Amino acid sequence: MATGDDVSAIIIDAGSGFVRAGYAGEDCPRAVFPSAVGRVPNAPASASASAPTPANPAAASVESGGDTSAAPSASSFSPYLVGESRVYAWRENMQIQSPFSNGIVTDWDALEAIWEYTYSDRLGVSANEHPLLVTEAAWSTRDVREKLIEIAFEKFRVPAFYIAKAPVLAAYTAGRPTALVIDSGAEMTSVVPVVDGFVIKKAIQKQNVAGNAVSNFARALLEANNIPVVPHYMVKKKLPVDAGHGSNPENRPPVPGTTKSFHDFATHRVLTEFKETVCQISEYNFHQQSLAMKPVKPFEFPDGYNCSFGLERFRIPEMLFNPSVNPAFSDTLVTGLHQMILSSLSACDADVRANVFQNVVITGGNSLIPGFVDRLNNTMSQNVGIRHRLYTPASQAERKYATWIGGSILASLGNFHQMWVSAAEYAEKGVAVEKRLP
Ligand SMILES: Nc1ncnc2c1ncn2[C@@H]1O[C@H](COP(=O)(O)OP(=O)(O)OP(=O)(O)O)[C@@H](O)[C@H]1O
Ligand SMILES: [Mg+2]
Repeated sequence: MATGDDVSAIIIDAGSGFVRAGYAGEDCPRAVFPSAVGRVPNAPASASASAPTPANPAAASVESGGDTSAAPSASSFSPYLVGESRVYAWRENMQIQSPFSNGIVTDWDALEAIWEYTYSDRLGVSANEHPLLVTEAAWSTRDVREKLIEIAFEKFRVPAFYIAKAPVLAAYTAGRPTALVIDSGAEMTSVVPVVDGFVIKKAIQKQNVAGNAVSNFARALLEANNIPVVPHYMVKKKLPVDAGHGSNPENRPPVPGTTKSFHDFATHRVLTEFKETVCQISEYNFHQQSLAMKPVKPFEFPDGYNCSFGLERFRIPEMLFNPSVNPAFSDTLVTGLHQMILSSLSACDADVRANVFQNVVITGGNSLIPGFVDRLNNTMSQNVGIRHRLYTPASQAERKYATWIGGSILASLGNFHQMWVSAAEYAEKGVAVEKRLP
């Protein structure tokens, strides 16, 4: 059996939005797929002959709309459906759910299904032949870590296991064991100081305001402008229309058997595509008159509706730096990114502040919105008042996958096999080995 130093380790970096997985020593993850999973209630024996499909919704006998009101018990669901080809495809009564809440695993069965899918469908290897390194949020808890250890050794029978904190790995990728790591992902934006490879816990700042919140704000602004967001599964035929004119769609009527969670997930996918295509962050504070002069960007929705967006494309992501533009935040404690940085800074000991600020590492998919880095740089100069240096990776992939890449680097270091928890050590100490992981 492998001992951790003679075969490539597997690195799984599962975030709230996407899972990234592949082999230690490689530059990029081999597999990237949504972390949302699907579940379908098992059909009662009688109902199957004329199950509806989006192509034949008339065959349905159930009401469309919300999730099934009489929810089946856990055991009456199909196994979890994982991967884009499964969760993006319409299925009768399929519910979509995320195994994470605030960046921490909450649905362990779903996480197991994700690991299983990673090994069998995406990497095609056996779990018991490769050491496994997984990532965790800086604010993960002991209970969560113990559960990860138990699943890795008891269910997957891995020969060796390690849990690494996401910001520490992102700092490694940047070649900086001491850094201020700013990670803006799908659900969470965090600011975490790392000193000599260790997280300064008391200085962690996090908010669940990141890419998903930007997409949700896009939805609110589109709806306010009477622009309907029709997800792909509802579009029967896309008919071309002139720019700025309403779509002329041949949409399906609401498909019976569609759950609210699937509809929301499918709609969110369109919003995400919209956001990634048109949004940009203003270099300086939002200034309506000057931004209104900037070039517009066109976007065509799945049903053919197309339109060019000007000011709105700046207003949507502005909420990351200036939450007051989003009325949904008016009664909340959400703060702009520079405020998170200031709070983190003031919680750090004075002697490390200057050092972490010389190495500001930016990571996470949401940081790829054009203008993010320039605005961050400007806002730090104006509001934070301490000399700083931003580390900007050479490629977008490195920024997006910095956590995974850090895991790949760490697990391929010559002496890393001394740091793994081996199966033998787990057999001796059980989940108490958690204490010796950083
Ligand atoms: N090129 C891009 N432009 C704008 N946004 C992008 C781009 N690429 C990815 N994103 C956004 O980044 C987010 C996903 O980021 P990431 O993969 O880092 O999150 P995660 O690690 O899964 O989640 P979290 O860290 O919150 O647990 C999504 O909201 C996605 O729309
Ligand atoms: Mg992440």
